[in-house]
Amino acid sequence: MSANTDKPVTFQEKLEKNIFALALMVAFVVSIGGIVEIVPLFYLDNVLEDQARAADGSAKFPELAGVRPYTALELAGRDIYLREGCYTCHSQMIRPFRDEKERYGHFSLAVESKYDHPHQWGSKRTGPDLARVGGKYSDEWHVAHLMDPRALVPESVMPRYRWLEKATVDGVGIEKRVKAMRTLGVPYSDEDIAAAAAATEGKTEMEALVAYLQSLGTMIEFQPGRDYRE
Ligand code: HEC
Repeated sequence: MSANTDKPVTFQEKLEKNIFALALMVAFVVSIGGIVEIVPLFYLDNVLEDQARAADGSAKFPELAGVRPYTALELAGRDIYLREGCYTCHSQMIRPFRDEKERYGHFSLAVESKYDHPHQWGSKRTGPDLARVGGKYSDEWHVAHLMDPRALVPESVMPRYRWLEKATVDGVGIEKRVKAMRTLGVPYSDEDIAAAAAATEGKTEMEALVAYLQSLGTMIEFQPGRDYRE
């Protein structure tokens, strides 16, 4: 193929022949997406809904103060949830659409994830969203379901998690994890850390996971008709 020397060299041709210029341009174009999403956050007074204040300085939504750090047992369960990859099939993010709200309840607020490191929002839903599954079923239901999902929901494709009933939680490990969470900004006290090993002593992984599932979405009592989008 012979180059047509009469044709002027276009900007694109120059870019495609200079790897550094191309890399710079790609970085610039890709960063536009980031800037459009991130910059508006700098102009918000607060990103978490529980920091919203009424004109007199009082908390605008007092019920949002109910969001608390996980107990040691719930945190142990959260780690099992991560280890077993439950998030590959379950999201914890209810979007503000009518069909989602009718099925799962109030749409998820940022404040609900403020102690989650990392958050479990996800976007893959092979199974239902679990953001508000706490209290929906009994502990016994969860145990039976995790032992054999098809015993309760015949068409389920969820795997069995039978080993959770025999494995016990590593208390010393949990103490370290609670400490690690404090490093990330979760307000655990020295007493919480000291009590973590005893609180999970002798508990099975099944008990921990069920405690975690039962906590999901139960920390806020949503007030009907109140709009939490400031
Ligand atoms: C291969 C995908 C898959 C994985 C992995 C998976 N699930 Fe599921 N899950 C499902 C499906 C599909 C359903 C709906 C049918 C049923 O209830 O079994 C479901 C249902 C559930 C429900 C009932 C939700 C409701 O509102 O009825 C809970 C609770 C649950 N899963 C927890 C978990 C936990 C905890 C883990 C990890 C230990 C897990 N799942 C892993 C697919 C999965």
